Amino acid sequence: MMKNEMLRKIENREIVVGVVGLGYVGLPLAVEKAKAGFKTIGFDVQAQKVEMVNAGHNYIGDVVDSDLAGIVKSGMLSATTDFSFVKDVDFVAICVPTPLDAHQQPDISYVRDSATSVSKYLKKGTMVVLESTTYPGTTEELIKPILEQGSGLKCGEDFYLGFSPERVDPGNLIYKTKNTPKVVGAIGKDATEVIAAMYRAVLDGEVFYLPGKPLFDKIKMTVDKNLLDAFPDGLTLVGCTDVTLADDLTSADVIDRLAFYDCKTVTCPTALESAVQAVSSDVNSIALSDAPDGGAPQPDAGTQCIDAMNYVL
Ligand SMILES: NC(=O)c1ccc[n+]([C@@H]2O[C@H](COP(=O)([O-])OP(=O)(O)OC[C@H]3O[C@@H](n4cnc5c(N)ncnc54)[C@H](O)[C@@H]3O)[C@@H](O)[C@H]2O)c1
Repeated sequence: MMKNEMLRKIENREIVVGVVGLGYVGLPLAVEKAKAGFKTIGFDVQAQKVEMVNAGHNYIGDVVDSDLAGIVKSGMLSATTDFSFVKDVDFVAICVPTPLDAHQQPDISYVRDSATSVSKYLKKGTMVVLESTTYPGTTEELIKPILEQGSGLKCGEDFYLGFSPERVDPGNLIYKTKNTPKVVGAIGKDATEVIAAMYRAVLDGEVFYLPGKPLFDKIKMTVDKNLLDAFPDGLTLVGCTDVTLADDLTSADVIDRLAFYDCKTVTCPTALESAVQAVSSDVNSIALSDAPDGGAPQPDAGTQCIDAMNYVL
């Protein structure tokens, strides 16, 4: 129900976007969302940045001055330090800093503080996405309880929560926010689909999503229908050396419910080869289990170059 309503609102540009943290990542993102037709509100704790945005003055190198001035003037982008306006948004991207502390650990106090601010005004039917760089588990173990406790809402039923690490490289002349491929992982299949749709509506870069909860570092594993059925939301394998796909899987099973990141070799029947290529990133090789040579790996079968491994949920 919530999924269909959100997909409809995305299609009709009825979603109001909130971007929390208007820095190198957040401001270009806010500008792209507004340019794509989504009314956007930027939130920041620095009043000076908020004032500059509202005056149409750009302070980030990757943002085109006239783009910012134009969308502010047309009313598509505004900024505030007042988080009570979170009640007016349907999508929240959290883009606050995560600097390393003295012990080389990410300081997630900004993420915690901003999630707490968002939680107080979170309304039913909102998507929340963390874009800050962080360690696996932050979304589910830190942000989800903060949002649920602060709002009294239930993740997956009342709001959707996901992670889409920002991968922008400020100053890069070719890849900007608009055309850098994105990876989306979210809690639940519907949330993943809706959040990926939201990015697809805005970006030219490809948007890849991770089905289900990622499994890290399984050295060897065989995936068959039985195993896949135990993961209703799908399965993302990260960093496996050898994955074998059984011949009871279909191409649709692979495309809809599996993803491979940074796996060394995926061995599959020939009939699944192109499906495996479509859902693989940084897979070194694909071997065919029914090939006459016994399945020697095909060199360089990996496809999209995404360094997603560090970034999943
Ligand atoms: N800049 C990059 O090249 C880059 C690339 C990829 C990923 N990232 C990641 O993206 C995240 C954001 O980085 P950035 O470079 O945009 O940081 P930044 O310092 O440029 O901007 C962060 C903004 O968040 C604001 N902020 C801090 N606490 C807040 C709070 N509680 N509520 C609202 N706003 C708050 C700050 O005032 C600042 O304006 C980090 O996790 C970073 O590691 C950055």
